[in-house]
Amino acid sequence: MHKVAISGTGIFTPDQVITNAELVASYNAYATGWNQANGAAIEAGEIEPKPMSSEAFIVKASGIERRHVIDKTGVLDPQVMHPIFPERADDELSMMAEIAVAAAKKALARAGRNAADIDAVICAASNHERAYPAVAIEVQQALGIEGFAFDMNVACSSATFGIQAAADMIRCGTARAILMVNPEITSGHHEWRDRDCHFIFGDVCTAVVVERADDLASGNAWEVLSTRCLTLYSNTIRNNNGFLRRTRVGHMEDRRDMQFYQEGRKVFKQVVPVVVDLMRGHLADEGVEPADLARLWLHQANKNMNDLIGEKVLGRTPSRTEQPNVLQDYANTSSAGSIIAFSHYSDDLPSGSLGVICSFGAGYSAGSVIVRRL
Ligand code: COA
Repeated sequence: MHKVAISGTGIFTPDQVITNAELVASYNAYATGWNQANGAAIEAGEIEPKPMSSEAFIVKASGIERRHVIDKTGVLDPQVMHPIFPERADDELSMMAEIAVAAAKKALARAGRNAADIDAVICAASNHERAYPAVAIEVQQALGIEGFAFDMNVACSSATFGIQAAADMIRCGTARAILMVNPEITSGHHEWRDRDCHFIFGDVCTAVVVERADDLASGNAWEVLSTRCLTLYSNTIRNNNGFLRRTRVGHMEDRRDMQFYQEGRKVFKQVVPVVVDLMRGHLADEGVEPADLARLWLHQANKNMNDLIGEKVLGRTPSRTEQPNVLQDYANTSSAGSIIAFSHYSDDLPSGSLGVICSFGAGYSAGSVIVRRL
């Protein structure tokens, strides 16, 4: 069995930013227009008016202050309320592949690797742009990587599950080095017209190079000591859009359930204990005391949720340095969140430092990766 390391990470961040103030102004304009258009039915008590959103609520409930998106014009237009992307021809690089290639180039540079060193590509994300061919194969081709590639989807946990898949293949010799990318164009499957969740998501792509630890070209690698993944079926976070959509009467209409929807309160209550048990059990089985951890890089969905998980795992309130959040700037970027935190906040730690990358989300799914700085 080979030892495994994360030797480089990279992030592609879209230039466009939507602040909470811009988002709330756009949502409230949309809701006001909708209420006016449906004034008679609201007056007759047949339907409820859409309530207004507020910046204060968003910051208090989630900790999110802004988010990056690929197209803010469409998202913020009260007549549109979703991004608008020009169609691309089949022989042009697709959007997910394009942002994956941008993040991958940074991760490869940090790992001191080039395409010839990589044996496989995994595209792990919460949605894929098309059914086939796999986005991962397009990324492989665009970067000139030989070997094989495949897509996988475990929603917000896709990156940690992707690291586990890559680490297992490297441990047993299927591949020497694997590029794992997480292109998350969440703005495309988000429901920007729903006050309860319109502030949650942002777009980004992360990339991770996972390779044999005995064969490294970079000086800032982290050994992957152990991985653990868990899934438990739940309908509290769901999106019903899929390839059978046109087969069902009424499903081609503008339906709420064809975008992301959730029961946020239930998610919060049910996922916290699952994640805490997973992390504590994983650490105990590997003989790592929570007190030995220099850092936790958690999934970036909600600041209050992360505060609670950190407190329960460490048995005390973690400092901002021990458990860095990036969600104030990025919002929830699905599977990419914990990797952004790891990429931004790991270089400062000395050799021998221990940490956990942990993600959680729809499925339910949760993944824990214990790492040690080489
Ligand atoms: N502006 C103003 N008020 C709002 C609002 C908004 N944008 N959205 C909801 N509210 C109101 C609600 O209607 C509710 O009013 P009520 O008390 O009169 O019923 C009140 O604020 C509280 O709403 P609630 O949904 O209970 O808030 P919350 O504190 O649970 O926070 C989430 C909502 C979604 C931020 C939180 O539940 C969460 O993050 N859950 C986990 C979600 C998650 O991680 N999902 C994974 C996605 S992959």
